[in-house]
Amino acid sequence: MKNTSILFVCLGNICRSPMAEGIMKTYIQKAGLTHKIHIDSAGTHNYHEGELPDARMRQHAFQRGYDLTHRSRPIKTEDFDNFDLILAMDDSNLSDLMRKAPTVEAQQKIKRITDYCSRHTLDHVPDPYYGGAEGFNLVIDLLEDACEGLLKAIK
Ligand code: 4NP
Repeated sequence: MKNTSILFVCLGNICRSPMAEGIMKTYIQKAGLTHKIHIDSAGTHNYHEGELPDARMRQHAFQRGYDLTHRSRPIKTEDFDNFDLILAMDDSNLSDLMRKAPTVEAQQKIKRITDYCSRHTLDHVPDPYYGGAEGFNLVIDLLEDACEGLLKAIK
């Protein structure tokens, strides 16, 4: 298996994409592939730059066995070179990323994370920011499903 790097992207990089990063890092560690797969996350916007994930996301993550320590950062042009796969949470992230991508090759690295789901049929990971607990749990359910599929796909 060749080395792979994956960047998860949402709007603020404080809920969905750091959750995806935390889940994928856990799965990769359990699979003994930490040295082969590099994982990071970023936001399409910089509103929360430098912040830890949202306290509600961290709490729901903790209840499901994940400790989120990522600091929010906006996506930068070099990311499109440095990562093999760039995974968007929803349509708005996808179109922002396509617009920011510097080349056609970079655009080809951008996919929807829900393409890797096998148990859920939703085509996006809904933004939980303005909702309640069920939204945060749905984010984790969808991302666990997607990350299982993603790990199988890259193995
Ligand atoms: P995320 O959630 O994109 O999953 O990190 C959001 C975080 C912040 C905001 C919106 C969504 N916001 O409007 O500040």
